[in-house]
Amino acid sequence: MPNTLIVGNWKMHNTISQAETLIRDIIALYQPHPTVELMVAPPYITLQTAANLLKTTSITLAAQNVCAKDEGAFTGEVSPPMLKELGCQSVIIGHSERRHLFGETDESINEKIRAALHHGLQPIFCVGERLEEREADQTHSVIQHQLQTGLARLEGKDLDNITIAYEPVWAIGTGKAATVEQATEVHAAIRAMLATHWDIDPGQIRIIYGGSVTADNAQALFQSPHINGALIGKACLNSESFVKIAQIATLDS
Ligand code: PGA
Repeated sequence: MPNTLIVGNWKMHNTISQAETLIRDIIALYQPHPTVELMVAPPYITLQTAANLLKTTSITLAAQNVCAKDEGAFTGEVSPPMLKELGCQSVIIGHSERRHLFGETDESINEKIRAALHHGLQPIFCVGERLEEREADQTHSVIQHQLQTGLARLEGKDLDNITIAYEPVWAIGTGKAATVEQATEVHAAIRAMLATHWDIDPGQIRIIYGGSVTADNAQALFQSPHINGALIGKACLNSESFVKIAQIATLDS
């Protein structure tokens, strides 16, 4: 059974001074737990501030995006070695906002996942269907395609270093989270798809849920054995609600 992972995706929120305050508040409130990992994913420019503050804590650091190239003439991009040296352990790849607002494809996401792994960064690979796809009964086929292409040319053992984040697009930032039944059903399907494809133990795959997770709905979600944590947007911008969700996760770990 993988450890539970609670990730705060700050998106494009907080200046450096605001980030410093939020990280200090999280550190002050958080009681570490042996089987729950707490991680923050602030914007690039605040990563250094966060890394300095988190160095002596158990809270880990992720970036929200990464370039698939090591270095070169790629204006505005940030490479895996840069993030690694900064102290990032992980990186969110393929978030639906990156896919839908910035044109990322399953193919470009695959390149980023492979580049991240190559440099020792653990990808948090986001997949999820849009509302119209769910309504057309295409949820499984959409996710299967995202997984097949996004994880192409990888081996089963790479899954030890990848977390899958199931984030239905219709649940992100809408206040309308998936029900425990909906999330469990898709998590179980993802687990079965990956375990069959690589002939690996389905229980070793870490799959977290994202989309309007709050301190109010977290407990029900975490009671599902298929849900190994959460990727949190809005509710992670408040130290109390973020740490509360992590504490709720310890109850089921
Ligand atoms: P939300 O965002 O919690 O605000 O819905 C989740 C995400 O985008 O990862």
